[in-house]
Amino acid sequence: MAAPISNEIIDANKHDDSIIYKIEATVVTGFERIAKQECIEKFGSNINISERQGRVIFELPFSKVHLALDLHSAENVYLLVHEIDDFAFSTDKTTALLQFRQLVKDIGQARWNNGLAVWREVCNYEQSVSVPDLTQIDISVTHSSNDDPHVESHPVSPGATGEQRDSGEKSNEATEMTDAGDGPTSVQSDTGDPKMKDDHSCQNSKLDDVVVSDRVPLGVPRFRATCYRTGKHHSFGSPDAACEFGGAINDFFRWKVDLKNFDIEVVLNIEDQRGYVTLALTKATLGKRNINHFGPTTLKSTIAYCMLRMSGIKDGDVVCDPMGGGGSIPIEGAICWPNAHFLCGDNHGMAESRVHSNVTDINQQRAEKEQGALKVDMFRWDVKRLPLHDSSVDVFITDMPFGKRMGNKFDNRRLYPQVLTELARVARPTTGRAVMLTQDKKCIQQSLIRLGYLWRRADTCWINIGGLSAGAFLLYRTANIVK
Ligand SMILES: C[S@@+](CC[C@H](N)C(=O)[O-])C[C@H]1O[C@@H](n2cnc3c(N)ncnc32)[C@H](O)[C@@H]1O
Repeated sequence: MAAPISNEIIDANKHDDSIIYKIEATVVTGFERIAKQECIEKFGSNINISERQGRVIFELPFSKVHLALDLHSAENVYLLVHEIDDFAFSTDKTTALLQFRQLVKDIGQARWNNGLAVWREVCNYEQSVSVPDLTQIDISVTHSSNDDPHVESHPVSPGATGEQRDSGEKSNEATEMTDAGDGPTSVQSDTGDPKMKDDHSCQNSKLDDVVVSDRVPLGVPRFRATCYRTGKHHSFGSPDAACEFGGAINDFFRWKVDLKNFDIEVVLNIEDQRGYVTLALTKATLGKRNINHFGPTTLKSTIAYCMLRMSGIKDGDVVCDPMGGGGSIPIEGAICWPNAHFLCGDNHGMAESRVHSNVTDINQQRAEKEQGALKVDMFRWDVKRLPLHDSSVDVFITDMPFGKRMGNKFDNRRLYPQVLTELARVARPTTGRAVMLTQDKKCIQQSLIRLGYLWRRADTCWINIGGLSAGAFLLYRTANIVK
């Protein structure tokens, strides 16, 4: 068993940096190495970091844990509380389920309290939260509502079905990319929270939120337990595991289950024989942080960030998204690379107003934080005839019509070579770059063979978008002129 965090009980007010915490950030599958680069840039080259499918895991001292929420490639951020490399799950379902109750106890009071201290600090949860001495707990005993007037009786529904979280979050990443295992499951059936608010972290938990009703006393957090499981040969499903694990938390800690308006999400992760427990530091994906006005194919900010990062933007670069839709790419770019110039265009009538509304909303938030306004130039144009001078753009970054929700694959066969030729005219020879995202891999690959004299393929990240494979192609402009 490895203990990612110290067994000592710490005082959250001490901000003791001698204790190192393990953080798991979920990222778009295929962009792990880009996320790793971001972590190294932000936390230093000596950071202890590893990649796993759909996530990066790294260590930070107490005072830096909150900075993990500022990572632009991260979808969700979790604090590791406990991990077991060889769990030895029982092949008997009843016994295996008891193991999850035992796990809650085995994590121990000190590890729970250390994790909760960090969670409270990062999420600004103002009430004290602690877990009781677990050594005396009998794992087979469940309490009834009569035991404690403040807490509802064991709320676990045995037939619970999991909620499906937003595409690209850990839930989908974990399940879409493996053919075994099952989706995420919370301790009670749930339809999921349909409104994804812009404030995606739990940083703004307010005192008011803590008192959900007169049945919940101060200091009793509302929680949900979620299970992500991948791997074959388990005698249980994730609904069973989440039920038992969450039920034990409810029984032992007397926290109140609330799947929608929870303060804290405790996650049981099972990967083959490995098991680990995390506390979520984000409540919903960070991938929608910049966009309020969505179009049919709005790109997540996390994907936009990774594409921008692939292109190696330098100060003074002119960066253009020639099929910019609602502006995800230039907005993310203008936030992260303030010394570059961003412009975008689209031929759709709604695109201009969407970009304008998204930029206006962001600038309102920035003004409140006394940050300078973002500038993104927006045009209505046809990508095949850009109203831009030859050799005037350093970097093109765009997600092309995939031919599914937007356009069709037949049209792509004409469109893609036309786009690549026009972008080659406008890109600066020898130094110009492009990052093109598409699911229509065959079409772009064939176009690049034809137009190899204009664009050299330098790198490709094969990523997962909503369960489908797409390629982010990094291209370098050659010195040749367009014929
Ligand atoms: C995959 S979407 C891009 C979505 C965008 N990244 C966002 O986050 O909103 C492709 C975009 O290409 C635009 N498009 C298609 N054909 C075009 C053309 N000939 N000229 C300019 N834009 C075009 C579509 O209107 C659409 O907004």
